[in-house]
Amino acid sequence: MLPLPRLAAENGGRFELRAKAEFRNPTGSVKDRTAWGIVSDALANGRLGDGEVLVDASSGNTGVAYAMLGARLGFPVRLYVPATAHPDRIDRIRALGAETILTDPAEGTDGAQREAEQWAARHPGRSVYGDQYGKPANPLAHYRSTGPEIWTQTGGRLSHFVAGVGTGGTLSGAARYLKERNPAIRVIAVEPDRPLHGLEGLKHLPSVRRPETYDARIVDQTIRVSTEEAELLRRHLGPLEGLLVGRSAAAALVASVRVGRATPGAFVVTVLPDAPPDDRPVAAGGP
Ligand SMILES: Cc1ncc(COP(=O)(O)O)c(C=O)c1O
Repeated sequence: MLPLPRLAAENGGRFELRAKAEFRNPTGSVKDRTAWGIVSDALANGRLGDGEVLVDASSGNTGVAYAMLGARLGFPVRLYVPATAHPDRIDRIRALGAETILTDPAEGTDGAQREAEQWAARHPGRSVYGDQYGKPANPLAHYRSTGPEIWTQTGGRLSHFVAGVGTGGTLSGAARYLKERNPAIRVIAVEPDRPLHGLEGLKHLPSVRRPETYDARIVDQTIRVSTEEAELLRRHLGPLEGLLVGRSAAAALVASVRVGRATPGAFVVTVLPDAPPDDRPVAAGGP
């Protein structure tokens, strides 16, 4: 958990701000938790051990996490990824040996999800559908890990929990745990401010299929952030806090600062899902 004292000070300094550095996970994003939750659930139910293919849709990070697990544990992985996903993520998935099918960018992850579902339905018995947008194993992974870690690492002192919504797994799972410990904790969802946006990993819920893994009942407030605001803060965070993060992380911090400015005395905790993509192809030879 990282303190961000300079960002808080720059914004009036009347609140405390901490963030979970999820880019430090094994494949560099929060989605290691989701992927492991889904894969361990399948393994515990006696699936994925007999050459079945793990198939799912991903905007990139979950794909990388699944691909790593598939390579380490020895099961094939097939991923449907919108062609707009960052080439670095696609390159990493392929470098880890998973099959990647690029889907229509205009259909976003909704389209990728449909294609993954259809492929799984056409290959019953030979496939396991990961279904990160629908399976309770996704939020459960955060209920069991992210939530308890935040509680312990803050000594239970947080007053606000802020997180971006992609599948909603991070937000719904961690928030459920935190509210069970202290029902007064306010839960804030972060979404892009418009349907076409550059906040990779996040969904503009009014314009897309609502993931079953998103629990709207637990959300007290939704803050909408523009790509431009997030990108500005993302660039500022390097010199200010020594932090290089992805745009969805910066969007979560834009929202966290808004909450902190509006609530003197608040203790705001958020999640930094990943680091910026690498522009050099992973599979290319070095100098
Ligand atoms: C970069 C990034 N940020 C945020 C999220 C949202 O996380 P969740 O799916 O748990 O809502 C994702 C999910 O893919 C992501 O890749």
